[in-house]
Order: sequence, then C-alpha cells, then structure tokens
Amino acid sequence: MAKVRESFGSSMAAVMAMAGSAIGLGNIWRFPYMVGQNGGAAFIIVYLLSAFFLSLPILLSETIIGRRTHAGTFGAMERLAPGTKWKWLGFLTIISPLIILSYYSVVGGWSIEYLIKAAGSGFGEDVPSLFGEFIVKPWAPLICHTLFLLLTAGVVSAGVKSGIERFNRISLPLLFVLIIVIMVYALTLPGSGEGVRYLLKPDFSKITPSVVASAMGQSFFSLSLGVGTILTYSSYMKKSANIFTSGVGTAFFDLLFALLAGFAIMPAVFAAGIEPGAGPGLIFETLPYIFAKMGAVAPWLSRGVSVLFFLTIVIAALTSSISMCEVGVAYLVDEKKMSRAKSSALIFGGCWLLGALCSLSFGPLSGVHLLGRTIFDFCDALTSNYLMTFGSLLFVLFVGWKMPRAAVWDEFTNGGTLSGNRRIFGVVWFLIRYVAPLVILTIFLTNLLA
Ligand code: TRP
Repeated sequence: MAKVRESFGSSMAAVMAMAGSAIGLGNIWRFPYMVGQNGGAAFIIVYLLSAFFLSLPILLSETIIGRRTHAGTFGAMERLAPGTKWKWLGFLTIISPLIILSYYSVVGGWSIEYLIKAAGSGFGEDVPSLFGEFIVKPWAPLICHTLFLLLTAGVVSAGVKSGIERFNRISLPLLFVLIIVIMVYALTLPGSGEGVRYLLKPDFSKITPSVVASAMGQSFFSLSLGVGTILTYSSYMKKSANIFTSGVGTAFFDLLFALLAGFAIMPAVFAAGIEPGAGPGLIFETLPYIFAKMGAVAPWLSRGVSVLFFLTIVIAALTSSISMCEVGVAYLVDEKKMSRAKSSALIFGGCWLLGALCSLSFGPLSGVHLLGRTIFDFCDALTSNYLMTFGSLLFVLFVGWKMPRAAVWDEFTNGGTLSGNRRIFGVVWFLIRYVAPLVILTIFLTNLLA
C-alpha cells in the first residue's frame, strides 16, 4: 500500500507554517526603512492595498493548486495539466526557492555569528568595520552558513508534522513575544518618539508610481510568493481548512510582524541619533553599534537586548529557510520516492555548494562576476526581480485561465460548503483572472527593462 502523505495537524498549524515562511529578513531589514522613506502611514496604506488586492490573490492561487492536488510544485502541474508545458513551471518553482535558500542561508549564517558574538564578547563601537572584515573572511562565514543550513535541513528531515509543524508552532509565538519585548524596550528610550514619527507621519506626496511598484515588490517578497513555497505548504492542508481565512491570516501576521519590527528598530535608531538605513547594514552594523553605545551605560541590559534581537533574526530566518528547503524535499519524496532524510541531505548538499560560492563572493571570489554582479548579488537579483514575479504571473494565469472555473470554485468554497467564501468568490476570481496578471506583467516588464 502506498504511504499516506503527511499533513499539518490543523488549520492553525498551516497558517503558522505559512506565516513562518513569510516572516523573515524582509520584514526586519527592508519594511521599516521603506515605510519611513516613502511616506509613513501613507505607504502603509498603499502596502495594505497591494498586500490584499494583489499579493493575496497570488497566495490564494498557490494555495488552491497545492491543496487541490496534495502535491508539491512539480506533481501539482503533472496532475492538473498532464503532458503540457506547465511542467516547466513545476521545475522552475523547485529551482527558484533553492537558489533563494542558498544565499539566504549565508545571511542566516551571519546572524548566527552575531548571536554568538552578542552572547559572548558583546559589541564594541568598532562594529561597522568588523562586519566588513567578517564577511570577506573565507572560513568563519562558511562555517556559520553550514550551521544554518544544517539546522534548516535537520528540521525538514524530521518531517512535516514532527519537524516543520512543531518548529513553527514554537517559533512563531516566540518571535512575536521577542519582538514585542524589544519594542517595549525601544519605545522607552529617550528620543524614541522621533522614530515613531518617522514610521507614522503620513506624507501622501511621496506616493509615486515607483513607490507603489516597490510596495508591491516588497509584499511579494515578504509573502514568499511565486516560488512554490506557499503551494507546497498548502499541499499539506486538510480538505476541511478554509483557504481564504488561512491566506488572510498569513498576510495579517506577516504585516503585523513587519510593523512591530519597525517599532522595535526605528525608535532605537533615532534615540541613538543615527540616520536609518536598510539591508544588512541596518542589522549587522547600525544596531550592533547602538548596542555598543548602550553597553557603555547599561552593559547587562545591552547584552540582554542584543541577544534577544539576534535570536529573533536567526529564528525568523530559519522559519523562512525551512519552507524553501521543503519545496525541493517534497519533490524528491513525492516524485522520486526518496526518503525524507536522503532528500534533505541532497538539498543540503546542493544549497551548501551554491551558498558557499555566494559566501565566498564577498571575499576570495569577489572578482567573479555574472552579468556584472557578484555571485551573491546575481542570485538575489535573479530570484527577487525575475523568478518570483515570473512564477507569480504563471501561477495566477494557471488558476485563472487553465484550471476550470468549477474546480477553482470547488476548492475555494470547499465544495460550496463555505457560505462566506461563496459570496466573495466572484471578486477573488476577477482579481486572479484579470487584475493580478496585468499588474504582475507590468512589474515584470519594468524589472526587465530597468
Ligand atoms: N518572505 C521571506 C522574508 O520576508 C523571504 C522569502 C522570499 C522567501 N522569498 C521566499 C521565503 C520564498 C520562502 C520562500 O524574509
């Protein structure tokens, strides 16, 4: 008898796993800065609109495919469109998350190094230059990358329920507790009000078409769309789960965490009198510098907060990397009938190698360029600017134009039993079929021509 495919124990478990995938570095190092730079509360409104009218339909499309077939990206295409070119979408969305995993785990590795530093010797005020010295080293970042990827593959190899579900069930609430503790602390610092104003002061004059496009891009990245992670997680959802409320729950937790991260970080940045920035510089230079300054006044408090902060980053990154790893593992387990342990080991090996090249591209391999970019930057740009948007476009086209409307309706309303979903189906269908493809195509072409 064929082995029964695993599933998440409850709808809440599925939402937690999907929110875990969504909540990651994007929420911590990009969202707060984007909000502050692009019109504060005005940007938050634009972001909300794009999350719910554009990203949610994409997320629902992936969910509909995954839950309908109970198969990973490749198997889903084989089942819904056998013998067609759609199988390439299946392949593409196995490759994309593995490329993301490779470079994401390099950054995950840096976070582990900083967590160890925070707990050990702590930070001195020379920390910004230390970061520059650290990432160009060959060995230390490589060891941390290995460790991060080992943790990721370890959780995935333990199984959907006893690995992924269990890890997220503990991590997600913990992440919220941690970020709230850090936020409460940051808001009590003298001068923190400036940071709150930076995040909230509405300035509608900043809302230009390019700001709207970047809000959309950020909501794609933040919800982990277009690369089959949401599809794969949804394939472990039970038939009784409500696709719509699960999707809304995921988007809600993702946005909530991004806002909390903003209120945890920006008040501290302003209290220290520093200009805010985004990206690796914010979390590996600016914040450790603030911790160092705090340390001069209150050493234990500084030590405690910095450990909590880097712990938050490591866990947030792990819940995302686990979802990327699972896409490849699901393929090998379902389609190639490999054991979960062997599949995880194989994915670990491949991503370790590409990740190692990404890691070394800051140091010994910095001279190697692909289309004018270092290996790390190339992988990042390829996935964030092209593969995620392209995958999203194909997913909405697949659900809107390839799948029969009756099948989509059946999946979205659980065979017509969910009256709320029945009522909104028309709107969702319109968004998936017309609005999402046109908007994504515009973004994709803009990226291509930029
Ligand atoms: N959403 C994650 C974050 O905010 C990162 C991410 C981007 C991702 N694409 C993904 C995670 C694909 C899983 C799968 O950091």
